[in-house]
Amino acid sequence: MAMPKEQFFLILISFSSLIYPSQSRLSYNYYSKSCPNFNKIMQETVTSKQITSPSTAAGTLRLFFHDCLTNGCDASILISSTPFNSAERDADINLSLPGDAFDLVTRAKTALELSCPNTVSCADILATATRDLVTMVGGPFYNVLLGRKDYRISKSSYVEGNLPRPTMPMSKIISLFAAKGFGVQEMVALSGAHTIGFSHCKEFKSYLYNDTHYNQRFVQALRNACADYPKNPTLSVFNDIMTPNNFDNKYFDNLGKGLGLLESDHGLHNNPMTNPFVEIYAKDEKKFFQDFARAMEKLSVYGIKTGRRGEIRRRCDAIN
Ligand code: HEM
Repeated sequence: MAMPKEQFFLILISFSSLIYPSQSRLSYNYYSKSCPNFNKIMQETVTSKQITSPSTAAGTLRLFFHDCLTNGCDASILISSTPFNSAERDADINLSLPGDAFDLVTRAKTALELSCPNTVSCADILATATRDLVTMVGGPFYNVLLGRKDYRISKSSYVEGNLPRPTMPMSKIISLFAAKGFGVQEMVALSGAHTIGFSHCKEFKSYLYNDTHYNQRFVQALRNACADYPKNPTLSVFNDIMTPNNFDNKYFDNLGKGLGLLESDHGLHNNPMTNPFVEIYAKDEKKFFQDFARAMEKLSVYGIKTGRRGEIRRRCDAIN
């Protein structure tokens, strides 16, 4: 017997809400009534912070990436450890996340709490700040859905295995992203984030002495720059030596010239699965920007919490 039309639509609706449970309450203008100055406050805070501390953009982009890949973009990375809980941000891979990025979120949260208390989540602040900063340093604009809630759980023990390390073989990095629903092309596009920011010598020092993929003059300069690293662990080098502060496609162009910094940067160029995308992005900045923007939009809603699965934290560094 044929199913009545109404019943069919009812089943369809409830089925589609099963597929997209976490995104169901998100929208682009989520705060238009509850916090009409949201965009303005974010823009002002982000601009003044980036002007006084130009490394904020890269630091925030990495902070956001690390938050999202570890159990979703839920601001769990912002929570401080307590005597009873070692939080995500204290996992060894997160210890180099810069204070300026955390400080930016605190500033935005303070300003937003004054204007519209208990309304804007730390997760939405981090997602929006990242987009605004990427655009500010020359990268593409993309839309950020809003309505994320902040997660109440943050554990350093959850981090291992969720974030890529520069010493991982490229096949392992590919499968790490694949396990989270990101294809090879998306992973390569996202890695274009290394067009800004820097890396500490610790992250590539040993690679400087057992690799042949580097440009010879570049590797010598890196060995000199990192010579004092055992005494001074803060020594670091720009990820994109050609245009370190501009978000552009130079990073991909560098890779083909032996001017990549991390072992994983070289890996992107040398691996047959990732190389075709490196070549495309090196030649076509427009295509890189399109793919990066799309992948960031996708990353921005990865594993997010809505409804009762999360809260609006009063302070971004502690659960309510
Ligand atoms: C593909 C695998 C990746 C590996 C192995 C990797 C690894 C690293 C490492 C080791 C650093 C240096 C951190 C430091 O010394 O402070 C770094 C920096 C950075 N990473 Fe990645 N990363 C990867 C992908 C990504 C992705 C997908 C993004 C963002 C979408 C990203 C954004 C950044 C940024 C912006 C910096 C500079 C941070 C700063 O200047 O403070 N990375 N990455």
